Amino acid sequence: VSSLKGKDLLTLLDYTSEEVQDLITLATQLKKITKDGKCPKLLEGKTLGMIFEKHSTRTRISFEVGMNQLGGKAMYMHSRDLQIGRGEPISDTGHVLSGYLDAIMIRANSHEMVKELAEHATIPVINGLTDLYHPCQALADLETIAENKGSLKGLKIAYVSDGNNVAHSLVVASAHVGMDIVVATPKGYEPNAEIIAKAQEIAKANGSIVTVTNDPVAAVKNADAVYADVWTSMGQEEESSQRLLDFKEYQVNDKLVAHAKPDYMFLHCLPAHREEEVATSVIDGPNSYIFEQAENRLHAQKAVLVSLLV
Ligand code: CP
Ligand code: NVA
Repeated sequence: VSSLKGKDLLTLLDYTSEEVQDLITLATQLKKITKDGKCPKLLEGKTLGMIFEKHSTRTRISFEVGMNQLGGKAMYMHSRDLQIGRGEPISDTGHVLSGYLDAIMIRANSHEMVKELAEHATIPVINGLTDLYHPCQALADLETIAENKGSLKGLKIAYVSDGNNVAHSLVVASAHVGMDIVVATPKGYEPNAEIIAKAQEIAKANGSIVTVTNDPVAAVKNADAVYADVWTSMGQEEESSQRLLDFKEYQVNDKLVAHAKPDYMFLHCLPAHREEEVATSVIDGPNSYIFEQAENRLHAQKAVLVSLLV
């Protein structure tokens, strides 16, 4: 997607619907040619720096392998080992890293911090999860649905869990591709109203709707895909016993998915807690696409890297 060269990926709200659709299409193309052993070495000589303030399995490994497959290199850094862990300003860090690297991927607690890094870095900054967004996840999610359902427009996805980072990015991405999305959360855990309002505008232009409800059954009714995320995100551990109580009626289980279409896809960004947000019978059942979805992180991110760097 050539128009994206040099851009950051902080949230898909900064991208046009056409750009989002093109990234998903490119992800599928890169997946095919990678499986044929023909992944082009488009990033030869380029280095991606990866800064993590939180744990990661998929994001870390898929970015590193993706860079390798494209002929480049990736460096893992935990923030506590960098001078930012001792208080060096994020602005100085952005300037300095821009002199060494070709792009930065960052997983951070605060979206504001990532914005500040991007303002001061002269190279693309890619959001690998913040408190507000997880755009790379949403690209892989929609790639997975598109590859299995043939297209995205007109489909319905139900997200049943916390109105968190994953929910926000899924809502924005769905709006961009004209897919209806219903987010079902307990009272008090609804997604950010401003993000929902922006997504609703995008959806309107693409002929789809974004809905927020406290009713999981209504959300899942006739859905083509049902999505779950953890009830307690990283950094919220002290709220976990309260959340277990508050989310009790929001488990994605056989009773709930009986309201979805018979060929619905179950999706989860992972890591998952079996028998909490999702029943084992659902996540390990025949409608689950979680491992394909996890693999697609690799291909979706290659699409992002190529688009921002070449
Ligand atoms: N889904 C996801 O981002 O996984 P990791 O936390 O393992 O990177
Ligand atoms: N919402 C989860 C997603 C993990 C990939 C979290 O922020 O911990």
